Amino acid sequence: MFPSRIASILALALFTAGQDVSIGAVDKAFCAAKIPENLTIVFKPTALLEVSLPQASGRPITLHAGIHVPLNDTTGPPTFHVVGNVGKGPFVVAAVDPDAASPFAQVRHFLGGNFFNHGGLLVNSTPVISDFVQPAPPAGSGAHRYTFLLFKQSPEFATQTLVNSTTAITGFNISQFASAVDLGKPIAGTFMLVALDA
Ligand SMILES: *[C@@H]1O[C@H](CO)[C@@H](O)[C@H](O)[C@H]1NC(C)=O
Ligand SMILES: *[C@@H]1O[C@H](CO)[C@@H](O)[C@H](O)[C@H]1NC(C)=O
Ligand SMILES: *[C@@H]1O[C@H](CO)[C@@H](O)[C@H](O)[C@H]1NC(C)=O
Ligand SMILES: *[C@@H]1O[C@H](CO)[C@@H](O)[C@H](O)[C@H]1NC(C)=O
Repeated sequence: MFPSRIASILALALFTAGQDVSIGAVDKAFCAAKIPENLTIVFKPTALLEVSLPQASGRPITLHAGIHVPLNDTTGPPTFHVVGNVGKGPFVVAAVDPDAASPFAQVRHFLGGNFFNHGGLLVNSTPVISDFVQPAPPAGSGAHRYTFLLFKQSPEFATQTLVNSTTAITGFNISQFASAVDLGKPIAGTFMLVALDA
């Protein structure tokens, strides 16, 4: 009896370790970090986006909003899950760094569409537009807020010509892009803090 209770408590702890479990907490963490202001987005999440970074050894790191991740653990590429009643897709996933120095911000660290919901796992049926680029915060610039956002894909996204795989990843603007291709507001998101020395 006793050992199996311990085991189930441990299992629960493992299950809940890491990832976001509350939409309200994600919303709060985004506000506290001023991400909606700095990205000029309206962030009213209705689902959870789980972002997992594979590790050379051991379990992947699953982000929760505001987690500090050591730079060396951010090689990626990440995998994505959605938790919530959001339908089958398609979805767009974007990741940006608003904390790069001007005029480089925002840096686009990931952009892909045609993600479909396979029991929570998001699988893309077409190549991504911008492959994941590992964080590279310069010395002395502190921790950058690498922010992942999930959008419902619009028909306009499929035919957009604003960004392709050769477009510079710097000088991006996710709110401008989202509005140009009619993505609306993000439905979920999370972020990690990564510094050069941490
Ligand atoms: C983020 O927003 C805050 C508050 O509006 C502002 O003080 C700060 O300069 C902004 N930072 C960036 C990187 O845009
Ligand atoms: C990160 O990786 C680099 C290159 O492999 C290594 O030189 C450095 O010591 C590592 N840093 C930490 C904090 O593990
Ligand atoms: C990719 O986008 C750039 C602008 O960012 C444009 O100059 C270039 O022609 C595009 N390439 C293709 C193959 O569409
Ligand atoms: C991004 O575009 C929005 C308009 O959609 C603008 O208000 C904002 O200042 C731009 N952000 C940056 C970093 O250029």
